[in-house]
Amino acid sequence: MDELNHQVLEEKPVPPPEEFSKKARVGSMAEYERQYQRSLEDPDGYWGEQAKLLDWVEPPKKILEWDLPHAKWFVGGKLNVSYNCLDRHLGKRGDKTAILWEPEEGEPVPISYRELHARVCRFANALRSLGVGAGDPVAVYLPMIPDLAVVLLACARIGAVHSVVFGGFSSVALADRIRDCNAKVLVTADGGYRRGRVVPLKATADQALESCPSVHSVVVVRRTGEPVNWKQGRDLWFHELSDKASADCPAAPFDSEHPLYILYTSGTTGKPKGVQHTSAGYLLQCAWSMQLIFDLREDDIYWCTADIGWVTGHSYIVYGPLANGATVVMYEGAPDHPAKDRFWQIVERHRVSILYTSPTAIRAFMAWGRQWVDKHDLSSLRLIGSVGEPINPAAWKWYSETVGKNRCPIVDTWWQTETGSILISPLPGATPTKPGSATKPMPGIVPRVVDLRGEPAKPGETGYLVIERPWPSMLRTIYGDDERFRREYWGRIPGVYFTGDAAQCDRDGYFWILGRVDDVIKVAGHRLSTMEIESALVSHDAVAEAAVVARPDEVKGEAVVAFVTLRANAKPSRELNEQISEHVATTIGSIARPAEVRFAQALPKTRSGKIMRRLLRELAQKGSVTGDVTSLEDLAVLEQLARTKGIEEG
Ligand code: WT7
Repeated sequence: MDELNHQVLEEKPVPPPEEFSKKARVGSMAEYERQYQRSLEDPDGYWGEQAKLLDWVEPPKKILEWDLPHAKWFVGGKLNVSYNCLDRHLGKRGDKTAILWEPEEGEPVPISYRELHARVCRFANALRSLGVGAGDPVAVYLPMIPDLAVVLLACARIGAVHSVVFGGFSSVALADRIRDCNAKVLVTADGGYRRGRVVPLKATADQALESCPSVHSVVVVRRTGEPVNWKQGRDLWFHELSDKASADCPAAPFDSEHPLYILYTSGTTGKPKGVQHTSAGYLLQCAWSMQLIFDLREDDIYWCTADIGWVTGHSYIVYGPLANGATVVMYEGAPDHPAKDRFWQIVERHRVSILYTSPTAIRAFMAWGRQWVDKHDLSSLRLIGSVGEPINPAAWKWYSETVGKNRCPIVDTWWQTETGSILISPLPGATPTKPGSATKPMPGIVPRVVDLRGEPAKPGETGYLVIERPWPSMLRTIYGDDERFRREYWGRIPGVYFTGDAAQCDRDGYFWILGRVDDVIKVAGHRLSTMEIESALVSHDAVAEAAVVARPDEVKGEAVVAFVTLRANAKPSRELNEQISEHVATTIGSIARPAEVRFAQALPKTRSGKIMRRLLRELAQKGSVTGDVTSLEDLAVLEQLARTKGIEEG
């Protein structure tokens, strides 16, 4: 934990722009405090009232059943998630644009609520025709195209459980995730576009499916038109299935706790965790937080730049915005294609009013220079947000000045795949901000910074971030492994939810999230497990042992550094170094590619044989070791490591 004792900035909080506060849904700290107090004193009353944001077929009989660590929210209630995102808007907003899709190349494609509804109904019927019913998992491996949202909502409509795998994952990672949830159907595309190049998704999926016997049908969206292999009897075109299917698909009610989706995320072991979310509580907290944190209005053009393959896209591109009847921009491609001003071109072109992006993107824009931003009229923006990793004060200030023109409040939103929705964030019209702090908890949320015994840390002291009470959008379990759910989230510090993050709470009650305390690293906001990368490394023929640590990176926040020992028959060389990196990229996906692979004669270990990652981390960060080395089995090992960097000297 001592490594995480960063200096926290004790700056004076800056209140939101007056103009913004005047019109905001929550316009003062007094109003925030009132709601917050109410939510703690009378949680049932508070959440019962918020639940009216949704349309219920049967209203809930009880707000919460809490049998630690298992929560049931809105017990006895019935609703349909896709009805709440589509049907109920058709009267007033049928012609309103739901999704404004910006392809990497070509003209934008607006899709109205009416059209989205029809497409969802058709595909829901198509899924049924493949034998998919309530509770059945459907694997999804798609690029950022509107069909992705259609598939999610179609699953929700018939109570099927989607499991989206990010399109950047490799065939091995895809296969692992499909096998874990036993999906019978996979929805993919012939390919996608990234920086003008074709990403051959179908070919990758075909490879994955060789080891996924559960999958009997593969539905393929035609995006690129490139030729693909076709397995008769298994592969079906999305458009052919949809065209054949009826557009009439009444939304059947499902129980509040009916599973909505599984989303895999990296944990402390090599095996990804299938985070299980359910229907009503999840949807409600997404919809509600959209209103409070993004201060959402009927005429907003809202753009979240995440990929739907991650939870940010699930909650804040699909469910949260559509439950509110918002217009969402969805962009297919890269921020620097065809040029480094693509984001600002999109903001100007669509008059985007709310922009939600990541610190990594912001730091990349900083590095590219403000001239790319200044070329464009950003006067439509009224609120800007950040998510995924800590945002350093310098990036925060640049974002505020260069993009927000010191006029737009910034919401630095802290949450996780597991939390389902944002738990710590400023309310833009109320909360005075401090650059680098996610500020205060949302109503209903009780975070604490504690030590391992659960004792509260003093203001400014680093500790573990935990959450004390259940909240509606929290994960319900890890799919197929309830024991791991108990152990990892509720067993570390008994009685509270363990986030895995280190944090400080300052004298004003502001939260500063410092980073992970487990073997999870965040590269460009993507969550990677050191163990998963290590097992990819040792699956290479030449590698005997591997240890992976993170080092700070100016743009991506953290970068992967891999220390490897080679098998007797292998010799260090530049080619082998590159091969090993490439092997990680093909096993997991290019997001996991090490920034550096360092050859070593042996890895430093404790007497009990545990790899001393702390020393390696120090080595990766500073190039030398100054920490305590007394428990090292072999000091020479460490010396050798410190001298040997990559292949240059080795
Ligand atoms: C981890 C969760 C939240 C959706 C996308 C990532 C880090 C996230 C912040 C923030 C500092 C943050 C934490 C957290 N994180 N947002 N605003 N400030 N750190 O979801 O992949 O599940 O990752 O991301 O370390 O635990 P995820």
